[in-house]
This record gives sequence, structure tokens and C-alpha cells, in this order.
Amino acid sequence: MPPIIADAEEHFRQLTPPADPLLKELEAEAAREGIPIVGPVVGRLLEILAAGAERLLELGTATGYATLHLARGGRGRVTTVERDASLAARARENLAQAGLAERVEVVCAEALAWLAGQEGPFDFVFFDIEKDDYAAALAACRRLVPPGGLLVADNTAFPDAMPFQRALHGDPGWRAVSLLAFLPGHRPEKDGLTLARRR
Ligand SMILES: C[S@@+](CC[C@H](N)C(=O)[O-])C[C@H]1O[C@@H](n2cnc3c(N)ncnc32)[C@H](O)[C@@H]1O
Repeated sequence: MPPIIADAEEHFRQLTPPADPLLKELEAEAAREGIPIVGPVVGRLLEILAAGAERLLELGTATGYATLHLARGGRGRVTTVERDASLAARARENLAQAGLAERVEVVCAEALAWLAGQEGPFDFVFFDIEKDDYAAALAACRRLVPPGGLLVADNTAFPDAMPFQRALHGDPGWRAVSLLAFLPGHRPEKDGLTLARRR
């Protein structure tokens, strides 16, 4: 097999999806304030993966950057959960500015406690909270995500995500794959992403 192209990272950086003015503003704000948003590549990936989803759930909203992509990609309602009240308020404003306020509910809550009171179903779930909460959130999703539902988890190359990785990959109720990826504009740019389809 021939070697991959020289300077592949630079080449892929050039292929970063373009952003509209609101997304650009949120990217600049996140860089200034050190808010770890998914960035344009994972944003576009979420948009593509969410296509057709009817009930979407995001754990970890921050300013609503990834939420915006989920709402644009999905067909139905998005619920997003953020424990920081000032970030939740900013996300509501940003989503309203994007014309998505009707389709997105920003819940200000501790994700694990909130999940315990939910009935679902959610056919698309995105994890982007503290990584050591992922394993408990996964246990809740066994009940909330029906067969065929998709789970996407960010930052799964972090050591705190290892209990989640072990639980997910050892559970026959999910068909999972974990990737170590180069993700321009993501923080960090080399990180793990995990996708799993509910069986
Ligand atoms: C990485 S940021 C989310 C970024 C966002 N998904 C995006 O890409 O635009 C993680 C957010 O999750 C929130 N968070 C972390 N642990 C949480 C928990 N257990 N419950 C609710 N929110 C949590 C943090 O306050 C933070 O705003």
C-alpha cells in the first residue's frame, strides 16, 4: 500500500467544514474563554449522524455549539442538559438567535440525576460531560435508547473515559466502535470518538 499523503494533517485541516457567522462567533468565543466545544469537524459529523433522528439528547451543552449542529441535522426535538446556569442561559440565547428555540429545550441540571427521571425514548444521544460520568450515563441509556438508536461519545481517549469504554465494548446490547482521530478545531485536536448502535 502506498504511504498516505505528505502532511496529511495540513491537508485535512484545509478540508475543515466552513462555518456560518454564528458558529464562527461561538468558535471565537470558545477559544477566548477556553470553553471546550466540539469544533467544526465533529460538529459536521454530528449533523450528518443525526439525520433523521426524532428525539435527540445531548449531555453537556456549554454555549450550544454542538446543539446547533444536532438541531440542524436531526428532524425532531433536541433536549440538551447543562449544569452551569449561566452557560445554559447563553445556549438558550444562541439557539434562539439561530431560529431553533422551538425545537430545542435546554435543561439546567446535573445530567445523571436528570437521566434517572427520564423515560425516553431517545434515538440519538451525544455524551459530552465529565468523562467519569460516562459509565453511569451509559447505564441509563440502556433503558432510554431503543434498538437502532445511536450513541456518540466525545473525548473517549481520556483516561477518565476508560470505565465507559470497557462497559460499552463489553456489553452485547451495543455494537460499538472507538476511533482515535485528528479533529481540526477540536480541543484537543487528537482525541477519541466512540459510536455505538443499540441492538
Ligand atoms: C465539553 S463542554 C460541552 C461542549 C458542547 N457539547 C459543545 O461541543 O458545544 C462540557 C459541558 O458539560 C457540562 N457538564 C459537565 N459535567 C456535567 C454533568 N455531570 N451534568 C451536566 N452538565 C455537565 C459543563 O458545565 C460543560 O459546560
